[in-house]
Amino acid sequence: MLAPAALMRDRLAMYNANGLHLGVFGANCSSGRSATTVPERWSASWRDCLQLGRMADEAGIDFMLPIGRWKGYGGDTDFHGATLETVTWATGLLAATTRITVFGTVHAPLFHPLIAAKEFVTADHVGAGRFGLNLVAGWNEGEFEMFGVGQRDHETRYAFAQEWLDAVKRAWSEPDTFDFDGQFLKLKGVRAFPKPHGGTRPIIMNAGSTPTGRAFALRNCDAFFTANSASRTSLEAGLKQVEEIKSEARALGREIEVYTIGQVICRPSQKEAEDYYRHAVIDNADWGAVERMLALRNITPQTVSPEEYAAKRQYFAANAIGGYPFVGSPDKVADELANLARSGLRGIAVSFVNYLLELPYFCDEVLQRLARHGVRAPRPR
Ligand SMILES: Cc1cc2nc3c(=O)[nH]c(=O)nc-3n(C[C@H](O)[C@H](O)[C@H](O)COP(=O)(O)O)c2cc1C
Repeated sequence: MLAPAALMRDRLAMYNANGLHLGVFGANCSSGRSATTVPERWSASWRDCLQLGRMADEAGIDFMLPIGRWKGYGGDTDFHGATLETVTWATGLLAATTRITVFGTVHAPLFHPLIAAKEFVTADHVGAGRFGLNLVAGWNEGEFEMFGVGQRDHETRYAFAQEWLDAVKRAWSEPDTFDFDGQFLKLKGVRAFPKPHGGTRPIIMNAGSTPTGRAFALRNCDAFFTANSASRTSLEAGLKQVEEIKSEARALGREIEVYTIGQVICRPSQKEAEDYYRHAVIDNADWGAVERMLALRNITPQTVSPEEYAAKRQYFAANAIGGYPFVGSPDKVADELANLARSGLRGIAVSFVNYLLELPYFCDEVLQRLARHGVRAPRPR
């Protein structure tokens, strides 16, 4: 049996030798990461998710990252109106797969930490060490109202998330009964068994975009997902942040892996890919849903100029929801992904308009090119 430190390294490597980790992002939510009305948009039904999980596992995709979403954004499709709860979703997928790491995404203020810690352990045992945790401090006011839970101010939200995670980690590691006496959480006589698989703990990630969110990730997480207006529109701008984040972590005596997100539309020719991108993501965007997402950020025709509003609408549909668009032929998509890996990025979680229809072509064409670029091991047999 390997020592816990070596087992933890294996976990962080997602049990493979790939330089660039590839994940599937957002498949537990209706329409995934594309606010589109096209009829082939993603259903997020369990049947489709299960088929996708098995397909991704067999093809050698490294991880699946769901979105913790409780309420749809409206529009013609009620974008994200139907979502599968992420920890139960992950547990089902882990039971049906053998290689892939599956994350659960949890809003700290909505889950009791001891219930959450046990759910994570259960998922982790089902997956024999393949469960990962995406911790969200919370940002979407309407979702919190729905639970009758008041949103704390931004700084306090992360202070609470810190305590919440400390409690979860203690439940994962304390060999005996313990008390937890925090500012927000007072837990007495806690007993939490079993511990996570193999004497280690699930990979922890976070994707806070503010300085407070980023500082939280640097202090606590194994993986930090960046997605901001720079990384969503320019590969170069996104990459500049990678070294910055890693060196900030090193200054705290920690190593952190940097990941990002993107949407993939890969077709035999560049023109076909660009045509479909425009068709699905722009010409048939669910503008009602896009406008609702903007309104949640206080961007409305009443708060900004008509020019700025038009630009934001376009940016949200084209880049913000899905992340940087990897649109093109297999050569182009593979070149761009390989460049990410060479610049120190550890991985990327991508979405497709219809994951099941599009993943096979991506895996057949792009994965082998990435192996030739030397940024991934050859596909498993
Ligand atoms: C890859 C990625 C995954 C995220 N997953 C979720 C999620 O599932 N649910 C959610 O409410 N927010 C999610 N977020 C939002 C972030 O956790 C974070 O709250 C947001 O970027 C705002 O940053 P801040 O918390 O520093 O203010 C995600 C963001 C990214 C980039």
